[in-house]
Parts: sequence; structure tokens; C-alpha cells
Amino acid sequence: MTTIETPAPVTTMPRIGDPAPAFTAQTTQGEINFPADYAGKWVIFFSHPADFTPVCTSEFMTFATMQEQFAAYHTELVGLSVDGLYSHIAWLRTIKEKISYRDMKDVEVTFPLIEDVSMEVARKYGMIMPGEDSTKAVRAVFVIDPKGTIRAVIYYPLSLGRNFDELLRVIQALQTADHFSVATPADWRPGDRVIVPPAGSCGTAKERMDGHVDGVECEDWFFCTKEISAQDVESAIRGNQ
Ligand code: BEZ
Repeated sequence: MTTIETPAPVTTMPRIGDPAPAFTAQTTQGEINFPADYAGKWVIFFSHPADFTPVCTSEFMTFATMQEQFAAYHTELVGLSVDGLYSHIAWLRTIKEKISYRDMKDVEVTFPLIEDVSMEVARKYGMIMPGEDSTKAVRAVFVIDPKGTIRAVIYYPLSLGRNFDELLRVIQALQTADHFSVATPADWRPGDRVIVPPAGSCGTAKERMDGHVDGVECEDWFFCTKEISAQDVESAIRGNQ
């Protein structure tokens, strides 16, 4: 007898620079068309393994508490797990009514949380990693820009809660790089020196090394920095998009 094998579900892994895969989904805030509904905004689209679990609860409380900080950088939050809508609603109500974590309590989650029981969206975004768990999403983070392009991708395993200061820093750094046409070095924070794009000609390399470019300091011709004050960064990326 011949057996017919069911093909494995298609899993894709969007990459930096790709358009964010489109989908329509039910959320705790109604239906969304993604990323079309977020055109013109930055988005942090993230997955969590399961409702009613402690690490995820601490993450949701932190995200909800920082929502205004992200909004100040024109950034919206959208969550997803492979649980159903009623589970999401019950979990978010429990968080608000019962859970304290650090100095957070009475926390209301008002950003949309997608239900994805079919795992269709999770598979589109490479959020299911069977080596870690085939029935839960890992902790994925996609940073999507106002044109709907994926700009950063970060993955964490089930046991590791995310660092939210780092997520905010990623938003600040990407927006600073776009606005000032610079790059940001290791551990950069607003106010730290930024990296000037590499010299494109021998003449520019020499000018920079000779100290003839105002405000630009070079360790060597390929490693040049300049100052952008925290105030200039903040007024550009918070007020100007
Ligand atoms: C948690 O969020 O606590 C969790 C979820 C899945 C596996 C392990 C921990």
C-alpha cells in the first residue's frame, strides 16, 4: 500500500530589508490588516509563546508600561501568540486585576494581541522553531519601518525575557541612522558619537585624516565619528516624522 505523506506546513523567515509579509487577523482590539493599517508608523511586531505564562506576563506588563515611550518615537506595538482570542482576553484581564511585577500593577494592555490558532501568521514570520517548540512561538521581534520594510529581527528562546531598553534603543538608533545618514556604534545611546559613512574616495579619506572636515574625528580613514547631541537626536526623531 502506498502512503501519501502530508507536506510539512510552509514556514518562511522574513529577512531584514524584505517587505513585511501581509496578513489580516483578529486581535484583542478588532481586525487588523497588517502592515497596511500601520503605514507611516514604525511597528514592533512580536510573538510570545503562550498566554498565562510568567515570563510572557512580565513582558506584556513591561511593553504596556512603556507603550507611551515607544509612541513618542512614532512606534506602535502588535503582539501575537498561537492562543485564541478568548484566552487572550482572559489573560489580559487577569494581568490587570491580579498581577504585580516590580513596580507595575493594574496594567492594562491596550495594544492589539493577535489570535493565531492556525499558526498561519506565526509560520509566515518564522516564529515557530520546532527545535525549541513546535506548538508555541518563540519570542520574535520584528521592527518594521513606516514603508512596511523589515529593519531589524531579534529572536529569543522561550525561557529568556526580552530586554526592553534594548528594543527602545533599536528604535532610536534606526531612526537616528535614517535621519542623519549615519551609523551607530556598539552600545550607542542618544548623545553618544555616531559613525560617519565610509569615505568614498581617496580625497575624502585624506581630508578627514588631515582634520579638514568640521566636527569629524578619525581613528583611521575608515573609522570616523562625529557628535550629535542627545537633544538634536531627540528633536529630530521624536518631533519630525
Ligand atoms: C513563560 O512565559 O513563562 C514561558 C512560556 C513558555 C515556556 C517557558 C516559559
